[in-house]
Amino acid sequence: MLGYRHAFHAGNHGDILKHFILFHSLEYLRQKDVPLLYVDTHAGAGSYQLESGYAAQNKEWLDGFQRLRQTLSPLPESLIQFRDFLESWIAHTGSYPGSPAIADHLLRETDRRIFFEMHPSDFLFLKEAFEHKKQVSVLNTDGFSGLKAFLPPPSRRACIFIDPSYELASDYEKLLEMIKDALRRFATGTYLIWYPLLSRPEAKELPEKLLSLYSGNRCSIEIQVTEAHERGMFGSGVVIFNPPWVLHRIIPEAIPILADILSVKRDKPEPNFRFQFF
Ligand SMILES: C[S@@+](CC[C@H](N)C(=O)[O-])C[C@H]1O[C@@H](n2cnc3c(N)ncnc32)[C@H](O)[C@@H]1O
Repeated sequence: MLGYRHAFHAGNHGDILKHFILFHSLEYLRQKDVPLLYVDTHAGAGSYQLESGYAAQNKEWLDGFQRLRQTLSPLPESLIQFRDFLESWIAHTGSYPGSPAIADHLLRETDRRIFFEMHPSDFLFLKEAFEHKKQVSVLNTDGFSGLKAFLPPPSRRACIFIDPSYELASDYEKLLEMIKDALRRFATGTYLIWYPLLSRPEAKELPEKLLSLYSGNRCSIEIQVTEAHERGMFGSGVVIFNPPWVLHRIIPEAIPILADILSVKRDKPEPNFRFQFF
């Protein structure tokens, strides 16, 4: 039974981190003249109204997108580009873009997009938004077990965006199994894996377990937005296998600034972020 609805969280600090990384990864990967396969194993509804419906209930976006939007201090070009993209998308559509919308906007005619979404209502939103596009397949099936059918891609180029809801304790084990299997089939793809910072043991152990699955080029990023606590998410992270080269430049320039923007406790003496390339 799926209870999670991403609409409650749209545009929050976690979205800003994962969507910033996704935006710049695809912006870079699309520059090479070879088709790219994009798979979103947990796609959500595609885009979200912020001022009405679920997102308006807890207004999590006020501590995410709104903080970025209202930042007056100078920003690195990579954050300006991302903010301008979000502003222009919202101005044109009236909604905040989820990962399928960001990917679809950036990808080319020749790039296939596969979106998995299990929730019946979010699947319908996604299908309605994208089913008219021949490059897009929207699947109402399990992304954890469905990814393998698409690997390796014919062009040997892929970006796999993995963004589960971590609703069930079993999601952690399924995620690790899925990635192990995917790497056996296709180790040279770019894998972007988002995870929440939570007190539960499975969540604490996840980043190390993920990093141990792959010994090639990889990178990890974390932003902690508030003090660690027992209930709820206090930040999030992304593990990336085969990070697009541009991330070596934009992560060091943007993550400390993004961490400062998204931090609810702005006066903490110690850094509330970390990143490392391996
Ligand atoms: C964090 S949300 C996705 C947000 C989206 N990637 C974005 O950035 O806009 C996770 C989504 O995964 C869906 N989901 C949960 N379990 C799933 C599964 N096994 N396969 C596919 N989708 C699943 C949930 O219904 C939810 O919409």
